[in-house]
Amino acid sequence: MIRSALMNVMTAAAIKAGRGLKRDLGELENLQVSSKGPGDFVSLADQRAEKILFEELAKARPGYGFLMEEGGRVEGTDKAHTWHIDPLDGTTNFLHAIPIFAISIALEREGQIVAGLVYNPADDSLYVAEKGQGAWGNNRRLRVAARSEMSQALIGCGVPHLGKASAHPQFKAELSAVMAKVVSVRRLGSAALDLAYVAAGRLDAFWERGLNSWDIAAGVLLIREAGGYVTGADGEDNFLETGSICGGNEAIQRQLLALLKEANRG
Ligand code: IPD
Ligand code: CA
Ligand code: CA
Repeated sequence: MIRSALMNVMTAAAIKAGRGLKRDLGELENLQVSSKGPGDFVSLADQRAEKILFEELAKARPGYGFLMEEGGRVEGTDKAHTWHIDPLDGTTNFLHAIPIFAISIALEREGQIVAGLVYNPADDSLYVAEKGQGAWGNNRRLRVAARSEMSQALIGCGVPHLGKASAHPQFKAELSAVMAKVVSVRRLGSAALDLAYVAAGRLDAFWERGLNSWDIAAGVLLIREAGGYVTGADGEDNFLETGSICGGNEAIQRQLLALLKEANRG
């Protein structure tokens, strides 16, 4: 397991924020039936979690900058370090009381992601990685899956939601190319956990477009430290900026990229 001071700080912050989310998940089961609906409650839960993460990390590492889904960018005095934070990845699942959601925290140092954490408070599963130290899930070393045949691969993806209708045609073309070649496709609803599942060898690969750095920065390091490969969905290196991602074990990631390319040629 990773026992660095940095990882202790990240883990303590995630567990503290996660406590509130777990309690709120229980509340949501009741709120499903209220006429007002759980939307406002969820955004409050989200903001509360982010506030805890911000306060804990700022206290432990004064001066580091922040890039957070809710609060946006907060410049730090230490220009070398930036936290990328999603306090609740998988909001739609959370809203529907489906226990697949996570807190995602990554630390960027001089342009490189050096630490990543994905934590699901619903089942207390914790995935962590530090550059050069490997990836760990609940105290066990993570390795990407060894499968190399597409016909045996289970692939995760993200479906663009209602508000992103312009992205639907491309997604449909990609899905139809992928589903024709693999065992099956999964849509778990939390990109951070999808990437952690690739690192853990549960999914052979994952692709999605339209994401942000706070969704993927931690998961990318998990996959790389678990021996896997990550690029953008068009093969690009600057995926933290483009927000499109394709990660997996070496053989499946390569074949998935080729399929996506073919799908986009039409
Ligand atoms: C979303 C989740 C989802 C992905 C969406 C993301 P949010 O994050 O990661 O799996 O498909 O594109 O926006 O909104 O739940 O933090
Ligand atoms: Ca997210
Ligand atoms: Ca979020």
